[in-house]
Amino acid sequence: MRKAALLLLTAVVAAAPETERALVAARKARRVRVAEEIGEGYALVIGQPPTEVLHPGQHGHFLYLTGVDEPSGVLLLRGAKAKATPAAEGRREMLFLPKHGERHRQFTGHRLAPDKATADLLGIEVVLPAPRRAQGLARELAKLLPHKAVLWMPAYRGPDDAFVREIRRDTLESLQALRSDISVQDLHPVLARMRSIKDPLELGALRRACTLTVEAFHQCLPAIRPGGSEAEVDGVLLAAVRARGARPAYPFVVGAGANAAIPHYFRNADALRAGELLLIDAGGAVDRYAADVTRTFPISGKFTARQREIYEIVLRAQRAGLDAVRVGATFREIDAAARQVIKDAGLGKHFIHGTCHHVGLDVHDPGPTRIQAGMTFTVEPGVYLPDERIGIRIEDVVLVTDKGVENLTAAFPKDPDEIERLLAASRKK
Ligand code: GLY
Ligand code: MN
Ligand code: MN
Repeated sequence: MRKAALLLLTAVVAAAPETERALVAARKARRVRVAEEIGEGYALVIGQPPTEVLHPGQHGHFLYLTGVDEPSGVLLLRGAKAKATPAAEGRREMLFLPKHGERHRQFTGHRLAPDKATADLLGIEVVLPAPRRAQGLARELAKLLPHKAVLWMPAYRGPDDAFVREIRRDTLESLQALRSDISVQDLHPVLARMRSIKDPLELGALRRACTLTVEAFHQCLPAIRPGGSEAEVDGVLLAAVRARGARPAYPFVVGAGANAAIPHYFRNADALRAGELLLIDAGGAVDRYAADVTRTFPISGKFTARQREIYEIVLRAQRAGLDAVRVGATFREIDAAARQVIKDAGLGKHFIHGTCHHVGLDVHDPGPTRIQAGMTFTVEPGVYLPDERIGIRIEDVVLVTDKGVENLTAAFPKDPDEIERLLAASRKK
Protein backbone atom coordinates (compact mmCIF):
# COMPACT_ATOMS: atom_id res chain seq x y z
CA MET A 1 0.00 0.00 0.00
CA ARG A 2 2.74 2.38 1.02
CA LYS A 3 4.64 1.65 -2.18
CA ALA A 4 1.60 2.23 -4.39
CA ALA A 5 0.91 5.48 -2.61
CA LEU A 6 4.47 6.68 -3.14
CA LEU A 7 4.21 5.94 -6.84
CA LEU A 8 1.03 7.98 -7.06
CA LEU A 9 2.59 10.96 -5.33
CA THR A 10 5.53 10.75 -7.67
CA ALA A 11 3.15 10.95 -10.58
CA VAL A 12 1.49 13.98 -9.10
CA VAL A 13 4.53 16.02 -8.20
CA ALA A 14 6.74 14.57 -10.96
CA ALA A 15 9.86 14.15 -8.80
CA ALA A 16 12.25 11.20 -8.71
CA PRO A 17 11.27 8.75 -5.93
CA GLU A 18 14.63 9.03 -4.15
CA THR A 19 14.25 12.79 -3.70
CA GLU A 20 10.59 12.64 -2.67
CA ARG A 21 11.24 12.40 1.06
CA ALA A 22 13.66 15.31 0.94
CA LEU A 23 11.17 17.39 -1.02
CA VAL A 24 8.41 16.65 1.50
CA ALA A 25 10.76 17.71 4.31
CA ALA A 26 11.82 20.87 2.44
CA ARG A 27 8.20 21.92 1.90
CA LYS A 28 7.44 21.27 5.56
CA ALA A 29 10.37 23.50 6.52
CA ARG A 30 9.01 26.22 4.21
CA ARG A 31 5.61 26.10 5.91
CA VAL A 32 7.25 26.26 9.33
CA ARG A 33 9.26 29.26 8.18
CA VAL A 34 6.09 31.02 6.96
CA ALA A 35 4.47 30.28 10.35
CA GLU A 36 7.45 31.90 12.08
CA GLU A 37 7.41 34.92 9.77
CA ILE A 38 3.72 35.66 10.36
CA GLY A 39 3.98 35.13 14.13
CA GLU A 40 0.53 35.82 15.57
CA GLY A 41 -1.24 35.71 12.20
CA TYR A 42 -2.62 33.06 9.85
CA ALA A 43 -1.57 32.45 6.23
CA LEU A 44 -3.98 31.54 3.44
CA VAL A 45 -2.57 30.49 0.08
CA ILE A 46 -5.00 29.78 -2.75
CA GLY A 47 -4.34 27.31 -5.56
CA GLN A 48 -4.95 27.95 -9.24
CA PRO A 49 -8.44 26.72 -10.25
CA PRO A 50 -8.90 24.47 -13.30
CA THR A 51 -9.71 25.83 -16.73
CA GLU A 52 -12.31 24.28 -19.02
CA VAL A 53 -10.03 21.68 -20.54
CA LEU A 54 -6.51 21.57 -19.15
CA HIS A 55 -4.64 22.27 -15.94
CA PRO A 56 -2.94 25.64 -16.48
CA GLY A 57 -0.17 24.88 -13.98
CA GLN A 58 -0.39 25.40 -10.26
CA HIS A 59 0.33 28.82 -8.76
CA GLY A 60 4.00 29.06 -7.76
CA HIS A 61 3.30 30.04 -4.14
CA PHE A 62 0.93 27.11 -3.61
CA LEU A 63 3.23 24.64 -5.36
CA TYR A 64 6.23 25.86 -3.33
CA LEU A 65 4.47 25.19 -0.03
CA THR A 66 2.53 22.01 -0.85
CA GLY A 67 4.05 20.25 -3.87
CA VAL A 68 0.53 19.75 -5.22
CA ASP A 69 0.58 20.35 -8.97
CA GLU A 70 -3.12 19.77 -9.51
CA PRO A 71 -5.74 22.48 -9.90
CA SER A 72 -7.47 24.08 -6.93
CA GLY A 73 -6.71 23.67 -3.23
CA VAL A 74 -6.25 26.07 -0.35
CA LEU A 75 -3.57 26.01 2.33
CA LEU A 76 -4.16 27.50 5.78
CA LEU A 77 -1.23 27.90 8.17
CA ARG A 78 -1.35 29.05 11.79
CA GLY A 79 1.42 31.43 12.77
CA ALA A 80 3.96 30.17 15.32
CA LYS A 81 2.59 32.50 17.99
CA ALA A 82 -1.07 32.58 16.94
CA LYS A 83 -3.94 31.47 19.12
CA ALA A 84 -6.06 28.56 17.93
CA THR A 85 -9.82 28.11 18.04
CA PRO A 86 -11.33 24.78 19.21
CA ALA A 87 -12.52 24.20 15.61
CA ALA A 88 -8.88 23.89 14.47
CA GLU A 89 -8.35 20.97 16.87
CA GLY A 90 -4.81 22.10 17.57
CA ARG A 91 -3.67 21.82 13.94
CA ARG A 92 -1.05 24.18 12.58
CA GLU A 93 -1.55 23.40 8.90
CA MET A 94 -4.62 22.47 6.94
CA LEU A 95 -4.80 21.75 3.25
CA PHE A 96 -8.17 21.80 1.54
CA LEU A 97 -8.41 19.80 -1.69
CA PRO A 98 -11.47 19.28 -3.88
CA LYS A 99 -13.32 16.00 -3.54
CA HIS A 100 -13.70 14.62 -7.05
CA GLY A 101 -16.27 12.15 -8.23
CA GLU A 102 -15.67 9.18 -10.52
CA ARG A 103 -16.63 11.14 -13.65
CA HIS A 104 -14.02 13.77 -12.90
CA ARG A 105 -11.36 11.10 -12.49
CA GLN A 106 -12.42 9.54 -15.80
CA PHE A 107 -11.59 12.81 -17.53
CA THR A 108 -8.48 13.89 -15.69
CA GLY A 109 -6.91 10.73 -14.33
CA HIS A 110 -5.69 10.25 -10.78
CA ARG A 111 -6.41 13.07 -8.37
CA LEU A 112 -5.29 13.50 -4.79
CA ALA A 113 -8.21 12.92 -2.44
CA PRO A 114 -8.77 14.97 0.70
CA ASP A 115 -7.92 12.20 3.14
CA LYS A 116 -5.32 10.84 5.54
CA ALA A 117 -3.35 9.01 2.84
CA THR A 118 -2.81 12.28 0.99
CA ALA A 119 -1.85 14.04 4.22
CA ASP A 120 0.74 11.32 4.88
CA LEU A 121 2.10 11.53 1.35
CA LEU A 122 2.43 15.30 1.42
CA GLY A 123 3.63 15.43 5.03
CA ILE A 124 0.86 17.92 5.82
CA GLU A 125 -1.00 17.62 9.13
CA VAL A 126 -4.44 17.26 7.66
CA VAL A 127 -6.08 17.34 4.21
CA LEU A 128 -9.77 18.19 4.28
CA PRO A 129 -12.42 18.46 1.54
CA ALA A 130 -12.35 21.95 0.03
CA PRO A 131 -15.57 23.93 0.26
CA ARG A 132 -17.11 24.33 -3.19
CA ARG A 133 -17.17 28.11 -3.33
CA ALA A 134 -15.44 31.12 -1.85
CA GLN A 135 -18.46 31.63 0.40
CA GLY A 136 -18.05 28.12 1.79
CA LEU A 137 -14.37 28.69 2.39
CA ALA A 138 -15.20 31.94 4.16
CA ARG A 139 -17.65 30.12 6.47
CA GLU A 140 -14.93 27.57 7.26
CA LEU A 141 -12.39 30.30 7.97
CA ALA A 142 -14.88 32.16 10.16
CA LYS A 143 -14.89 29.10 12.44
CA LEU A 144 -11.14 28.47 12.31
CA LEU A 145 -9.78 31.98 12.87
CA PRO A 146 -9.63 33.42 16.40
CA HIS A 147 -10.89 36.86 17.39
CA LYS A 148 -9.06 39.73 15.66
CA ALA A 149 -6.99 37.33 13.55
CA VAL A 150 -4.59 38.81 11.01
CA LEU A 151 -4.92 36.86 7.77
CA TRP A 152 -1.84 36.90 5.53
CA MET A 153 -2.72 36.30 1.89
CA PRO A 154 -0.59 36.96 -1.22
CA ALA A 155 -1.93 40.01 -3.06
CA TYR A 156 -1.73 38.23 -6.46
CA ARG A 157 -0.91 41.27 -8.57
CA GLY A 158 0.60 39.39 -11.54
CA PRO A 159 -0.97 39.25 -15.00
CA ASP A 160 -1.33 35.45 -14.73
CA ASP A 161 -3.00 35.66 -11.32
CA ALA A 162 -6.48 36.75 -12.40
CA PHE A 163 -8.25 33.58 -11.23
CA VAL A 164 -6.65 33.34 -7.79
CA ARG A 165 -7.10 37.09 -7.36
CA GLU A 166 -10.81 36.65 -7.94
CA ILE A 167 -11.12 33.79 -5.42
CA ARG A 168 -9.12 35.83 -2.90
CA ARG A 169 -11.43 38.82 -3.32
CA ASP A 170 -14.64 36.77 -3.06
CA THR A 171 -13.37 34.83 -0.04
CA LEU A 172 -12.34 37.99 1.73
CA GLU A 173 -15.59 39.80 1.01
CA SER A 174 -17.61 36.90 2.40
CA LEU A 175 -15.29 36.45 5.37
CA GLN A 176 -15.35 40.09 6.36
CA ALA A 177 -19.16 40.10 6.11
CA LEU A 178 -19.16 37.30 8.68
CA ARG A 179 -16.22 38.49 10.76
CA SER A 180 -15.51 42.23 10.72
CA ASP A 181 -12.72 41.72 13.31
CA ILE A 182 -10.41 40.07 10.75
CA SER A 183 -7.70 42.11 9.06
CA VAL A 184 -5.45 41.29 6.11
CA GLN A 185 -1.75 41.52 5.32
CA ASP A 186 0.11 40.76 2.08
CA LEU A 187 1.99 37.45 2.25
CA HIS A 188 3.55 37.89 -1.20
CA PRO A 189 6.76 39.63 -0.04
CA VAL A 190 7.40 36.84 2.51
CA LEU A 191 6.99 34.09 -0.09
CA ALA A 192 8.86 36.01 -2.77
CA ARG A 193 11.84 36.44 -0.43
CA MET A 194 11.82 32.76 0.47
CA ARG A 195 11.40 31.57 -3.12
CA SER A 196 14.24 33.78 -4.32
CA ILE A 197 16.82 31.77 -2.34
CA LYS A 198 17.04 28.33 -3.92
CA ASP A 199 17.86 25.23 -1.85
CA PRO A 200 20.00 22.38 -3.20
CA LEU A 201 16.99 20.41 -4.45
CA GLU A 202 15.69 23.41 -6.36
CA LEU A 203 19.15 24.05 -7.77
CA GLY A 204 19.38 20.44 -8.92
CA ALA A 205 16.17 20.83 -10.94
CA LEU A 206 17.24 24.19 -12.32
CA ARG A 207 20.66 22.86 -13.35
CA ARG A 208 19.01 19.97 -15.20
CA ALA A 209 16.66 22.42 -16.91
CA CYS A 210 19.61 24.58 -18.00
CA THR A 211 21.63 21.61 -19.25
CA LEU A 212 18.84 20.15 -21.33
CA THR A 213 18.00 23.58 -22.73
CA VAL A 214 21.57 23.95 -23.96
CA GLU A 215 21.23 20.50 -25.55
CA ALA A 216 17.98 21.58 -27.22
CA PHE A 217 19.73 24.63 -28.68
CA HIS A 218 22.42 22.37 -30.14
CA GLN A 219 19.78 20.06 -31.54
CA CYS A 220 17.96 22.82 -33.42
CA LEU A 221 21.06 24.11 -35.26
CA PRO A 222 20.50 22.08 -38.46
CA ALA A 223 17.02 23.64 -38.77
CA ILE A 224 18.55 27.14 -38.88
CA ARG A 225 18.99 27.57 -42.63
CA PRO A 226 17.59 29.67 -45.48
CA GLY A 227 14.32 28.11 -46.61
CA GLY A 228 13.61 26.72 -43.15
CA SER A 229 10.89 28.03 -40.87
CA GLU A 230 10.46 29.49 -37.42
CA ALA A 231 7.86 26.77 -36.79
CA GLU A 232 10.32 23.98 -37.57
CA VAL A 233 12.96 25.39 -35.21
CA ASP A 234 10.29 25.81 -32.52
CA GLY A 235 9.19 22.21 -33.07
CA VAL A 236 12.73 20.81 -32.87
CA LEU A 237 13.33 22.73 -29.62
CA LEU A 238 10.06 21.50 -28.17
CA ALA A 239 10.76 17.91 -29.16
CA ALA A 240 14.24 18.11 -27.65
CA VAL A 241 12.87 19.45 -24.37
CA ARG A 242 10.04 16.91 -24.17
CA ALA A 243 12.30 14.02 -25.19
CA ARG A 244 14.40 14.83 -22.12
CA GLY A 245 11.35 14.53 -19.87
CA ALA A 246 11.01 18.29 -19.35
CA ARG A 247 8.32 20.74 -20.39
CA PRO A 248 8.64 24.08 -22.12
CA ALA A 249 9.00 26.72 -19.42
CA TYR A 250 7.11 29.26 -21.55
CA PRO A 251 6.09 29.67 -25.20
CA PHE A 252 9.41 29.89 -27.05
CA VAL A 253 10.35 32.95 -29.04
CA VAL A 254 11.67 31.95 -32.47
CA GLY A 255 11.82 35.16 -34.47
CA ALA A 256 13.54 35.75 -37.80
CA GLY A 257 14.26 39.09 -39.48
CA ALA A 258 11.99 41.85 -38.16
CA ASN A 259 10.37 39.33 -35.77
CA ALA A 260 13.68 39.10 -33.91
CA ALA A 261 13.09 42.71 -32.89
CA ILE A 262 9.92 41.76 -30.97
CA PRO A 263 11.12 40.65 -27.51
CA HIS A 264 8.02 38.57 -26.72
CA TYR A 265 7.26 37.46 -30.30
CA PHE A 266 5.13 34.32 -30.14
CA ARG A 267 3.78 33.51 -33.61
CA ASN A 268 6.79 31.48 -34.75
CA ALA A 269 5.24 31.02 -38.19
CA ASP A 270 7.45 32.85 -40.72
CA ALA A 271 10.10 31.66 -43.14
CA LEU A 272 13.86 31.86 -42.45
CA ARG A 273 15.44 34.08 -45.11
CA ALA A 274 19.07 34.21 -46.23
CA GLY A 275 21.06 37.06 -44.73
CA GLU A 276 18.72 37.60 -41.76
CA LEU A 277 19.05 36.85 -38.08
CA LEU A 278 17.13 34.30 -36.01
CA LEU A 279 16.57 35.04 -32.34
CA ILE A 280 15.71 32.04 -30.18
CA ASP A 281 14.53 32.44 -26.59
CA ALA A 282 13.75 29.01 -25.15
CA GLY A 283 13.86 27.10 -21.89
CA GLY A 284 12.89 23.72 -20.53
CA ALA A 285 11.39 23.30 -17.07
CA VAL A 286 12.27 20.40 -14.75
CA ASP A 287 9.83 19.90 -11.87
CA ARG A 288 8.61 23.36 -12.92
CA TYR A 289 12.08 24.97 -12.44
CA ALA A 290 12.56 27.08 -15.54
CA ALA A 291 15.60 27.72 -17.71
CA ASP A 292 15.47 30.87 -19.85
CA VAL A 293 18.11 31.18 -22.57
CA THR A 294 18.45 33.42 -25.62
CA ARG A 295 20.92 33.21 -28.48
CA THR A 296 20.89 34.95 -31.86
CA PHE A 297 22.03 33.25 -35.07
CA PRO A 298 22.80 34.32 -38.65
CA ILE A 299 20.46 32.22 -40.81
CA SER A 300 22.99 31.94 -43.66
CA GLY A 301 25.73 30.87 -41.26
CA LYS A 302 27.74 34.13 -41.26
CA PHE A 303 26.87 37.47 -39.67
CA THR A 304 26.88 40.47 -42.00
CA ALA A 305 29.22 43.30 -40.96
CA ARG A 306 26.31 45.32 -39.54
CA GLN A 307 24.81 42.33 -37.70
CA ARG A 308 28.21 41.50 -36.20
CA GLU A 309 28.72 45.12 -35.15
CA ILE A 310 25.44 45.13 -33.20
CA TYR A 311 26.01 41.58 -31.95
CA GLU A 312 29.35 42.54 -30.43
CA ILE A 313 27.79 45.51 -28.65
CA VAL A 314 25.12 43.29 -27.11
CA LEU A 315 27.73 40.70 -26.16
CA ARG A 316 29.90 43.35 -24.48
CA ALA A 317 26.81 44.63 -22.67
CA GLN A 318 25.95 41.15 -21.47
CA ARG A 319 29.50 40.58 -20.24
CA ALA A 320 29.41 43.94 -18.44
CA GLY A 321 26.14 42.86 -16.81
CA LEU A 322 27.57 39.49 -15.79
CA ASP A 323 30.68 41.20 -14.39
CA ALA A 324 28.47 43.38 -12.18
CA VAL A 325 26.78 40.37 -10.55
CA ARG A 326 27.80 39.97 -6.93
CA VAL A 327 26.26 39.56 -3.48
CA GLY A 328 24.92 42.95 -2.38
CA ALA A 329 24.56 44.41 -5.89
CA THR A 330 21.06 45.17 -7.23
CA PHE A 331 19.33 44.28 -10.49
CA ARG A 332 19.33 48.01 -11.20
CA GLU A 333 23.13 48.09 -10.98
CA ILE A 334 23.50 45.12 -13.31
CA ASP A 335 21.07 46.74 -15.71
CA ALA A 336 23.02 50.01 -15.55
CA ALA A 337 26.30 48.23 -16.32
CA ALA A 338 24.84 46.49 -19.38
CA ARG A 339 22.88 49.54 -20.51
CA GLN A 340 25.91 51.81 -20.36
CA VAL A 341 27.66 49.76 -23.06
CA ILE A 342 24.62 50.01 -25.34
CA LYS A 343 24.18 53.72 -24.59
CA ASP A 344 27.84 54.40 -25.33
CA ALA A 345 27.30 52.80 -28.73
CA GLY A 346 24.43 55.24 -29.36
CA LEU A 347 21.77 52.52 -29.19
CA GLY A 348 20.32 53.24 -25.72
CA LYS A 349 16.77 53.74 -26.94
CA HIS A 350 16.83 50.40 -28.72
CA PHE A 351 17.31 48.42 -25.49
CA ILE A 352 13.65 48.35 -24.52
CA HIS A 353 13.42 46.00 -21.52
CA GLY A 354 15.09 45.23 -18.21
CA THR A 355 18.21 43.10 -17.84
CA CYS A 356 17.37 40.74 -14.96
CA HIS A 357 14.54 38.70 -13.52
CA HIS A 358 14.57 35.80 -11.08
CA VAL A 359 13.96 32.30 -12.42
CA GLY A 360 12.54 29.37 -10.46
CA LEU A 361 9.12 27.72 -10.33
CA ASP A 362 8.04 30.55 -12.63
CA VAL A 363 10.17 31.80 -15.48
CA HIS A 364 9.56 35.30 -14.13
CA ASP A 365 9.97 34.30 -10.50
CA PRO A 366 9.24 36.77 -7.72
CA GLY A 367 11.95 38.06 -5.40
CA PRO A 368 13.77 41.11 -4.09
CA THR A 369 16.23 42.79 -6.43
CA ARG A 370 19.21 43.04 -4.09
CA ILE A 371 21.35 39.98 -4.76
CA GLN A 372 21.98 37.36 -2.10
CA ALA A 373 23.72 34.00 -2.23
CA GLY A 374 21.32 31.34 -3.52
CA MET A 375 19.57 33.55 -6.04
CA THR A 376 19.14 32.50 -9.68
CA PHE A 377 18.30 35.07 -12.32
CA THR A 378 18.83 36.08 -15.92
CA VAL A 379 21.17 38.62 -17.50
CA GLU A 380 19.67 39.50 -20.88
CA PRO A 381 20.40 42.76 -22.67
CA GLY A 382 19.14 43.21 -26.22
CA VAL A 383 19.11 45.69 -29.08
CA TYR A 384 16.09 45.88 -31.37
CA LEU A 385 16.20 47.64 -34.76
CA PRO A 386 13.00 46.57 -36.57
CA ASP A 387 13.66 48.97 -39.47
CA GLU A 388 16.91 47.11 -40.18
CA ARG A 389 15.27 43.71 -39.51
CA ILE A 390 17.73 43.22 -36.65
CA GLY A 391 16.96 41.97 -33.16
CA ILE A 392 19.72 40.63 -30.93
CA ARG A 393 19.45 39.41 -27.35
CA ILE A 394 21.84 37.26 -25.36
CA GLU A 395 20.44 35.69 -22.20
CA ASP A 396 21.99 33.42 -19.57
CA VAL A 397 20.84 32.14 -16.18
CA VAL A 398 23.25 32.73 -13.31
CA LEU A 399 23.50 31.35 -9.79
CA VAL A 400 25.11 33.50 -7.10
CA THR A 401 26.82 31.70 -4.23
CA ASP A 402 29.10 32.78 -1.38
CA LYS A 403 31.98 31.66 -3.59
CA GLY A 404 31.02 33.72 -6.63
CA VAL A 405 28.88 33.60 -9.73
CA GLU A 406 28.13 30.52 -11.80
CA ASN A 407 26.69 30.89 -15.28
CA LEU A 408 24.37 27.88 -15.58
CA THR A 409 23.90 28.26 -19.33
CA ALA A 410 27.43 29.20 -20.36
CA ALA A 411 27.80 25.86 -22.14
CA PHE A 412 26.07 27.21 -25.21
CA PRO A 413 28.55 29.56 -26.95
CA LYS A 414 27.80 33.21 -27.60
CA ASP A 415 31.03 34.40 -29.17
CA PRO A 416 30.07 35.26 -32.79
CA ASP A 417 32.92 33.23 -34.32
CA GLU A 418 31.92 30.22 -32.28
CA ILE A 419 28.28 30.62 -33.30
CA GLU A 420 29.38 30.64 -36.95
CA ARG A 421 31.56 27.56 -36.40
CA LEU A 422 28.71 25.70 -34.74
CA LEU A 423 26.37 26.47 -37.62
CA ALA A 424 28.96 25.39 -40.16
CA ALA A 425 29.58 22.14 -38.28
CA SER A 426 25.86 21.41 -38.03
CA ARG A 427 25.58 21.65 -41.83
CA LYS A 428 28.37 19.19 -42.51
CA LYS A 429 26.65 16.43 -40.54
N1 GLY B 1 11.68 34.30 -22.04
C1 GLY B 1 11.11 35.41 -21.40
C2 GLY B 1 12.12 36.35 -20.91
O1 GLY B 1 13.26 36.28 -21.31
O2 GLY B 1 11.87 37.14 -20.06
MN1 MN C 1 14.27 36.14 -19.42
MN1 MN D 1 14.04 34.59 -22.26
